Amino acid sequence: MKHHLFSILLIGALFLSCKVKPTEEPIVESPAPTGSISSVSYGMTRDSIAVEEYTLKNKNGMEVKIITYGGIITSWTAPDKDGNYKNIVLGYDNLAQYQRSTPYFGALIGRYGNRIAKGMFTLDGNTYQLPKNDGQNHLHGGPKGFDKVVWTVTDSKAEGEGAVLKLKYLSPDMQMGYPGNLEATVTYTLTGDNALEVDYAATTDKTTVVNLTQHSYFNLSGDFSTNILDHELTLSATKYLPVDGTLIPTGELAPVSGTPFDFTSSKVIGTDIAAENEQLKRGKGYDHCWVVDGEGMRLAASVHHPGSGRVLEISSNEPGIQFYSGNFLDGRLPVPGGGTYGHRSGLCLETQHFPDSPNQPAFPTTTLKPGETYSTKTIFKFTTK
Ligand code: GLA
Repeated sequence: MKHHLFSILLIGALFLSCKVKPTEEPIVESPAPTGSISSVSYGMTRDSIAVEEYTLKNKNGMEVKIITYGGIITSWTAPDKDGNYKNIVLGYDNLAQYQRSTPYFGALIGRYGNRIAKGMFTLDGNTYQLPKNDGQNHLHGGPKGFDKVVWTVTDSKAEGEGAVLKLKYLSPDMQMGYPGNLEATVTYTLTGDNALEVDYAATTDKTTVVNLTQHSYFNLSGDFSTNILDHELTLSATKYLPVDGTLIPTGELAPVSGTPFDFTSSKVIGTDIAAENEQLKRGKGYDHCWVVDGEGMRLAASVHHPGSGRVLEISSNEPGIQFYSGNFLDGRLPVPGGGTYGHRSGLCLETQHFPDSPNQPAFPTTTLKPGETYSTKTIFKFTTK
């Protein structure tokens, strides 16, 4: 009996000690997920300059490919609501095609994004004539703008959960008619929360004008055989800039309320695009600059593709955003892997200063003087809903 009691106590004690004592398992430290960057040759330009392609990856698997020619984003993957990553920007898969013909797919735009009326402006009493490459106007920096030059990589590194690529271009005095040696830098930073930050900076040695932007065409479905009319767009803008017949702003800041230009709350792009409206006629659809409400870094636009659930939010400290509904895409340019880019198969949301600012003193200035640093920032962030 005594013996029995002892055994029971012993078993009980053992049982308890097993229960209480935490099981000791070796702690395996898994490395924190990180970003990465790599590069490969992308061939030679027609004037024999070597072009590289950089691939920026973040910890989630978002991948942005950027070539040094034009600083072009050639491909950019984003997850749908089930976590499937797909390329959501229009582009090509070879340099020859970018050099042959492109409506600025994915490119950096400079020195002046958007139009300057008759390619002419006056600064410090000097009149400058820029090349006219859009009817009677100058568009996107001229026939050889920043989208068609090879940028120098000054830094490329994995950083935290993402990666950074820093590009520089020295535009000599009077290139494309613009005064001053302009040193431009653009830093692409892919972050761990599926955002691509684009930082623009520039300095000059003569008074000049600058307005840099990014010209990616998005189709959040990732299916380039479809158009963007089913995307839902919100613009933080109660005013927009009506244009004349050559797409130069008339100078008026017109209220969007009661017009097809009202995207203050989410609206399907196709809803009003075919409305009877003189401004839509002039743009052949949407091709206008909206005046982003407020100042400083703020949300300018949000796009949602209901089918995939992809959402793109664009924040910037720029005063304007050009919404272009891909009206000039006409089924002639090739989609890598087959097919062509059809009418409105992509949309652009170009954060920028207002078009033709050098000739419109009431618009926020685009003048840059020696000793000043031009500095703007735009963030493209992907989520799902
Ligand atoms: C800009 C312009 C459009 C068109 C495209 C490129 O967004 O506003 O009119 O020129 O670039 O095709």
